[in-house]
Amino acid sequence: MDQITTGIRRVLSLPIVYDTFQTVVGAVASKRKVCEQYVSRGSSDIVVDVGCGTADILTFLPASSHYFGFDLSQSYIDAAKKRHAGRPNSSFLCADLNEMAPDAMPPCDLAIVFGVLHHINDESARRLMENLHDRLAPGGRLITVDPTLVEGQARIARELIKRDRGQHVRTPEAYEALVPARFQGHVTEVRHDMLYIPYSLAVTVCTKAA
Ligand SMILES: C[S@@+](CC[C@H](N)C(=O)[O-])C[C@H]1O[C@@H](n2cnc3c(N)ncnc32)[C@H](O)[C@@H]1O
Repeated sequence: MDQITTGIRRVLSLPIVYDTFQTVVGAVASKRKVCEQYVSRGSSDIVVDVGCGTADILTFLPASSHYFGFDLSQSYIDAAKKRHAGRPNSSFLCADLNEMAPDAMPPCDLAIVFGVLHHINDESARRLMENLHDRLAPGGRLITVDPTLVEGQARIARELIKRDRGQHVRTPEAYEALVPARFQGHVTEVRHDMLYIPYSLAVTVCTKAA
């Protein structure tokens, strides 16, 4: 089991609870920051959002973006469809990234994997990132964002992250080690300033050769 869905964490499976929690801790605001600081306009024409949840990030993408989001949770996908009803050029699919044919994802300029790698094991993560490399256009970018454990982080951040639903929280180096060598370059930053609460995120930006 890669994700804990029992006990108190079970209520997070409810889209309304999940969305409220995300807003309160600043996780929604963190998506705005990621879009402002890591998504350049030119790279955002066709966007694939892996494990999109209720598709928070779509609010912060340029209106001209063509968006495809998929997630394991049917209730999250239903909530995403309802929330973004009427937004042109957006589609949502309930699918398991481990079972999905790579070509079920459209060719894209930007792939976002926000808060997902820490829910999946190394083998699945590497396969996903290889598939995304294949789907990206030359010069396209893959952005991953996940909680991370690092020395010197706030104690409360460490304790919260250790209790995450995802069972594969990694160090920044371990997230970096998942990046396929075929990417022309990648950089990982540890950010302690993305949420309203003490929290540490590893943001990795991978660029495909032009
Ligand atoms: C922490 S949530 C992040 C959701 C969204 N990306 C966001 O940032 O709001 C992790 C998401 O990954 C999804 N997920 C986990 N394992 C998955 C899998 N095997 N295939 C597709 N989605 C998966 C979960 O359903 C959940 O919506």
